[in-house]
Amino acid sequence: MDSSTKDSHTHSGAHIHQHLLTSDGGEKGSTHHDYAKANQEHFDHEAKLQGNYEKSEWIGLSRKLGRGLVETYKELFTENTTVLDYACGPGIVSAEIVPHVKSITGVDISQGMVDSYNARAKDLTISPERMHAIRTELKGTNGELDGRKFELVVCTMAYHHFTDVADTTRILASVLAPGGSLLVVDWLRDAQGNTEDLFMGNDQLKKINPHSGFTEAEMRGILDGAGLGGFAFQAWGEEEVMGHRVRPFVAKGTRV
Ligand SMILES: C[S@@+](CC[C@H](N)C(=O)[O-])C[C@H]1O[C@@H](n2cnc3c(N)ncnc32)[C@H](O)[C@@H]1O
Repeated sequence: MDSSTKDSHTHSGAHIHQHLLTSDGGEKGSTHHDYAKANQEHFDHEAKLQGNYEKSEWIGLSRKLGRGLVETYKELFTENTTVLDYACGPGIVSAEIVPHVKSITGVDISQGMVDSYNARAKDLTISPERMHAIRTELKGTNGELDGRKFELVVCTMAYHHFTDVADTTRILASVLAPGGSLLVVDWLRDAQGNTEDLFMGNDQLKKINPHSGFTEAEMRGILDGAGLGGFAFQAWGEEEVMGHRVRPFVAKGTRV
């Protein structure tokens, strides 16, 4: 168990900063570190080790989470639904979703992951019109993704990688069509910060993970703060990956 304490606070009910404080009062999750760049490099490297990544236990979890989304929110996955899978990785989740929707667009900061995603779609003989990824990091500027809006945005196991989750959520909310929903899957950290911390003691993982999970209250604040309504939250029990316990959740918000 890590000896650091976590101090999360909310400003104006909208913007959550999470500071990871070391026992000597220093900050680990400093905003000076470029997490986006570190993630891009890390996941490009992971893509090069494709064999390892494909065999990793995370793949099984991603599959299960993709299936869980479709089972939990059946009504959101229809033949008319266009989906954005943000931080899509190598497309494991998209591949579970695509049989149930009209089309799915993957977006990821890592070109290596995007290439794996598109190779997976090709292997599965799914046309690019139905499943295709592009490399970008959304900034919330006009004309991104050709101005497209989506009925559904999913983002799985990636929030803990984002520097500013409130900002990212506002951007994801902005690409939702009216009435569209955002589904975020990540893992739980309890209010006391007592969750087993996967990243401490691993310097490489610390560089790409500014957060060690989220509480339900934090997720509510983040989705409310992005102007999304109809907050819903489900914990999905406990999973064991690479010798660690993780407690996945799905949080939902809808553009009203
Ligand atoms: C743990 S993987 C999850 C992949 C996939 N969503 C899944 O559940 O299998 C995290 C992904 O987030 C991407 N990522 C990290 N930071 C990002 C950012 N700022 N913008 C877009 N993608 C990002 C990484 O490149 C990586 O593919």
